[in-house]
Amino acid sequence: MAPSDDHPEVTGEAIVSEAEKRPISTIVFIIAMQTEALPLVNRFQLSEDVESVFPKGVPWVRYHGFYKDLHINIIWPGKDPVLGVDSVGTISASLVTYASILALQPDLIINAGTAGGFKAKGACIGDVFLASEVAFHDRRIPIPVFDLYGVGLRQALSTPNLMGEINLKVGRLSTGDSLDTSPHDEASIVANDATIKDMEGAAVAYVADLLKVPAVFVKAITDIVDGDKPTTEEFLHNLAEVTAALDETVAKLIEFISGKSLSDL
Ligand code: ADE
Repeated sequence: MAPSDDHPEVTGEAIVSEAEKRPISTIVFIIAMQTEALPLVNRFQLSEDVESVFPKGVPWVRYHGFYKDLHINIIWPGKDPVLGVDSVGTISASLVTYASILALQPDLIINAGTAGGFKAKGACIGDVFLASEVAFHDRRIPIPVFDLYGVGLRQALSTPNLMGEINLKVGRLSTGDSLDTSPHDEASIVANDATIKDMEGAAVAYVADLLKVPAVFVKAITDIVDGDKPTTEEFLHNLAEVTAALDETVAKLIEFISGKSLSDL
């Protein structure tokens, strides 16, 4: 997901655009669950919008404020208007990513949240991962080229300096609209070579890529997909503690990003 190449300039080996050299100023977090969002809202003392930037009547919530030189926006898709639960999954994630980019013109999107992890690929409960690539595992279209469209493999923004500074595990993220993992899903996740599994990442990546906004994906592991505990129980049991680990990591990330440009990451 390279940012737009306005006036690219050759510096050594790499071509760096003006946009990549400017200090990062506006960040949009896409966070699916209120439990995941609130620790960060409190940490950065963000306030909920009084006048929404989103269409009237949608449940989408923006918390925003400033930390040092950064305008931080946390977008939470809110509660389902009928059922009253968090609007998790790819549809809400795509919609809020689209609307947030149009309204806020961010320099960077950060999709932060919880995920399942595969112990066979080195994931443990409480680990925080930065995704290197993201793809879908529940869009199987076995027709040439449509198959690749369905998988929708995309690169996260490359952040070599960040990796040197903050100790995070790195792996591929696979996205689907179910918390459980069917045998078909599992085969696709293996084909995606994924270490972590969520319900939003590849959808956020799709929209960010369409609108040429770089994106990173920070995911904390609540449950082991290839373990012996039922996913729902393990997820709910670990949610609060793992969300605290996510909060700590995102705080370090923000500290690192402050004062830097995309090309410094
Ligand atoms: N979020 C947390 N755990 C997950 C899992 N196992 N699958 C999808 N999303 C998740």
